[in-house]
Amino acid sequence: MTDSRLERLQAAIPGLRLTTDVADLEHYGRDWTRRWTPAPLAIALPSSVDEVQGIVRWANAEGVAVVPSGGRTGLSGGAVAANGELVLSLERMNRVLDFNRVDRTLAVQAGIPLEAVHNAAREHGLVYPVDFAARGSCSIGGNIATNAGGIRVIRYGNTREWVAGLTVVTGAGEVLHLNRGLIKNSSGYDLRQLMIGSEGTLGIVVEATLRLTDPPPPTNVMLLALPSFETLMQVFAAFRERLTLEAFEFFTDRALHHVLAHGAQKPFDEVHPYYVVTEFAVGDEAREAAAMAAFEYCMEQGLVSDGVISQSDAQAAQLWRLREGITESLAKYKPYKNDVSVRISEMPAFLTQTQALLGQEYPHFDVVWFGHIGDGNLHINVLKPDDTADADFVRQCEHVTKLLAQALERHGGSISAEHGIGLVKKPYLLGTRSAEEIALMRGIKHSLDPRGLMNPGKVFDA
Ligand code: FAD
Ligand code: MLT
Ligand code: ZN
Repeated sequence: MTDSRLERLQAAIPGLRLTTDVADLEHYGRDWTRRWTPAPLAIALPSSVDEVQGIVRWANAEGVAVVPSGGRTGLSGGAVAANGELVLSLERMNRVLDFNRVDRTLAVQAGIPLEAVHNAAREHGLVYPVDFAARGSCSIGGNIATNAGGIRVIRYGNTREWVAGLTVVTGAGEVLHLNRGLIKNSSGYDLRQLMIGSEGTLGIVVEATLRLTDPPPPTNVMLLALPSFETLMQVFAAFRERLTLEAFEFFTDRALHHVLAHGAQKPFDEVHPYYVVTEFAVGDEAREAAAMAAFEYCMEQGLVSDGVISQSDAQAAQLWRLREGITESLAKYKPYKNDVSVRISEMPAFLTQTQALLGQEYPHFDVVWFGHIGDGNLHINVLKPDDTADADFVRQCEHVTKLLAQALERHGGSISAEHGIGLVKKPYLLGTRSAEEIALMRGIKHSLDPRGLMNPGKVFDA
């Protein structure tokens, strides 16, 4: 470590773990996107709130940019450090701090993996219901910073709904305790909610108090095969009207193709163009009957061409794997990811227009559709063909994303439903958010991070 700024940091916080090892710079400087070349100044791995505060104070004194870093499973480049920033990894701050049975809350450090929160809640007979495939590697701090969604939003909402309190270190180096676990608090601006979804641009989440809830009743998982795209939202309506849905997820045959190639088990003998995985409460006669009624109605109306219902937990997991395995199965193709949302009522028209647009723009590319269709959230992944150079591929995808952003603007949708803006979607923010809103966001950033050192260049430019 020869940089004098780092020597001063180490002198100011003698116990701080700092590394400039080349393999560490590479490892901590990128996220799941893998599009930017990592080039951080160093990696800091603090173990306490005091150390985080010390780092932010040092950053302000030295004018060094800081990239907050969780599990780096982000899909929008938010945790990328490609310009000499200090990566501040919360990895070592990964403990459960407190469980409060009366309040039904779990206080944790921000670096704790989502799955460890699930396990801790379960130990107390409760659940933390935000859930998705990156659970083993992503952190609660990253979930909060992106307002992560996942497969159970239809029932439980986004991360935002489950954060009862936050401790943050702002970009100015102040420690704030926000909302302190209260259910009700009408005492001015809710700065906790402002921090949620701010992608590390306002400060660092160091601790969180999470709400827990009762485990759901017994559920079944059903896989449905659909003959056409046009029927998708009708199937959704039929199931939602009759059942308490825990999840309603969609994918295409192209997605299934890649998951099967990745080792999943084939669900039907025949090939179908579209699929839905849905999970719903059962456990009594009325609910069982409602599930059968939904399925039979869809079959009679020709909305669904086949279906299978889980008979055991193992089979439920097998069906879920078909949906949850998609991201991993596509990773080797360096997919260009779109993560868009519209209101559910806009979805049929938006789907038709988007299908036409992509068919026209990508006649030769493998385009894989999947997502949380019950939330109006669609993931459109474009796979890079072997014979196309990375830069050409990204250029072409960016052109199509611009058209997609225009369609979203017409439908009142969002260019990022749950992954965040980061670097990937920064050029398209205007349209989803108005110029006035973006100006206000800049003002808010300036008041919490006056020197503009918290994740600069992410979400919007200074
Ligand atoms: P990182 O990638 O490390 O960081 C994400 C952003 O948060 C960055 O801007 C970073 O600077 C900031 N940040 C991280 N920690 C902090 C902190 N303590 N304080 C302030 N800022 C911080 N996302 C969904 O929403 N729904 C899904 O269904 C979903 N499924 C996924 C499945 C797979 C297989 C993968 C690889 C990713 C998936 N994601 C999903 C995306 C990703 O997992 C989420 O965005 C997750 O919330 C990121 O958490 P992380 O700890 O990895 O954050
Ligand atoms: C998902 O829904 O599987 C995630 O958001 C990940 C992805 O979009 O690849
Ligand atoms: Zn998703």
